[in-house]
Amino acid sequence: MFLRYQQVSRIIELLKPKTIVEVGTWNGDHALIMAKTALRHQTAVHYWGFDLFEDSSESIDVQEFNFRSHTKLEEVKEKLEKFQRSNKGFTFNLIKGNTRQTIRANINASWPDPKTQKEHILGEADLSYIDGGHSIETIQSDYNQLKNSKTIVLDDYYTPDENGNCPTTKKVGCNQLLTNIDHFILPACDRLNSGGVIQMAATGKNFMRKLSLEHKKIEKSSQEFTRTVVTSFSPQGYYSYGKRFIEQFTRFWPKKVKLIIYLEAPLPIKTTGQIETRMFSKICPEIIEFKARHMNNAKANGFVDGKTKNYRYDAIKFCHKVYALTHCALSNPSEKLYWIDADTIFFKPITNAFLNQILPKGYYTSYLGRRDKHSETGFMGFDLQHNSNIDFMEFWKNIYDQDMIFDLPEWHDCFVYDELRKYFEAKCAVKSFDIRKDYEDDHHPFINSPLGGFMDHLISDRRKEAGCSFASDLRTTRKELYWQLVPYMPEEFVVNKI
Ligand SMILES: C[S@@+](CC[C@H](N)C(=O)[O-])C[C@H]1O[C@@H](n2cnc3c(N)ncnc32)[C@H](O)[C@@H]1O
Repeated sequence: MFLRYQQVSRIIELLKPKTIVEVGTWNGDHALIMAKTALRHQTAVHYWGFDLFEDSSESIDVQEFNFRSHTKLEEVKEKLEKFQRSNKGFTFNLIKGNTRQTIRANINASWPDPKTQKEHILGEADLSYIDGGHSIETIQSDYNQLKNSKTIVLDDYYTPDENGNCPTTKKVGCNQLLTNIDHFILPACDRLNSGGVIQMAATGKNFMRKLSLEHKKIEKSSQEFTRTVVTSFSPQGYYSYGKRFIEQFTRFWPKKVKLIIYLEAPLPIKTTGQIETRMFSKICPEIIEFKARHMNNAKANGFVDGKTKNYRYDAIKFCHKVYALTHCALSNPSEKLYWIDADTIFFKPITNAFLNQILPKGYYTSYLGRRDKHSETGFMGFDLQHNSNIDFMEFWKNIYDQDMIFDLPEWHDCFVYDELRKYFEAKCAVKSFDIRKDYEDDHHPFINSPLGGFMDHLISDRRKEAGCSFASDLRTTRKELYWQLVPYMPEEFVVNKI
């Protein structure tokens, strides 16, 4: 099953619908998953399924961007009846035909709730899952009919992949429809064989109310203040995650927090009073020289045994973070500076109280420590007014400028940061704050620390590809809507440790 489909079950767990409409029943398997999930919370669940079933044709499949084979209505009906025999609370209707006509024809259908006798109406279902024809006309028509549903999940929201490939959203998908509708793009991503990333969107008054409650509560308490976030990404990283980072930063960070981005090559980033870009080649010749000295050395690129890449020795990859961070810190842009990896997602407005919590007064640096491994440097905080700041940053930069990095046991930024931090703690009485200190497990410290209340870090290729970390990565209870929606890690990836 596609990763994004799990989110429909997550929404059912969250909102506990009694009535579910599925536009595009296909073979009925997802209907059973949804019904089983809903029956864990309700004694009676009614399902309406719409599909062309055996009435489809090749030309409709092309028009509707449909790549799946069709199942006969009778086969799906048998499947659902079999399920019904052991789940008496389950009832259903299956409607064959083109949804441009069939939903309209049934929209006022009603039936009594077996417990309360209150009438349910199809057009006001608790959950409508629109995943039938994917032409703009059909999605628009399905949505128009079902727009009074309490929660609506739409499939086929397309975005370009890192190579810029994407289906034509002027013809297919729900992108156009959503331009005029308040909505939320669900985090999980799947890939299209033809190129592009596909996600789901959620809307409807119940769902949006839940989301806005969470956002409003925070917005009221958020204040403006002056701090800086620094990050860096390659041109490929921009298309994979950097673009999203900038959009979400603009949306969720206070207006007086600046974002400074260090770049290897010019990119189409709109700079504003809040967002600044800096080209390494123009302002930091040392990184260009460091890379020129070691670029062609396989060992400095992590290939110490000549064959497999080991991130612990990838000095070239991780030097960008160090040069960007040290250059920014020494250019003194504000009182506080936060390094945040650009493959981070922001999903809730950032508050002053939160920023004080993750770099408290009296500490020079804050970090995500791990018990049995180096720190996770996807996030680091620094008090630039601390009297050790210049020494710390110059020392760090010198380790690269003077090639001393290659005398150390490991050559990545996390190792060097930990060594430096410990040295300054011991020799200069610098105080460091471990943001992760109240969390016992080493697994994914970023999201299990207070940072996880506002952000997600897509550490590892699998999470980047999935578009989110997984519910199974959580070791702490999280109430934020974002974490109620992310899927569980598929079985085959559970072994991957981060
Ligand atoms: C992507 S599949 C649905 C997958 C299913 N919802 C799931 O979650 O497993 C799309 C389905 O929509 C149906 N479909 C496509 N265009 C349609 C239309 N205009 N009217 C009715 N059904 C349509 C197809 O026959 C196909 O079964």
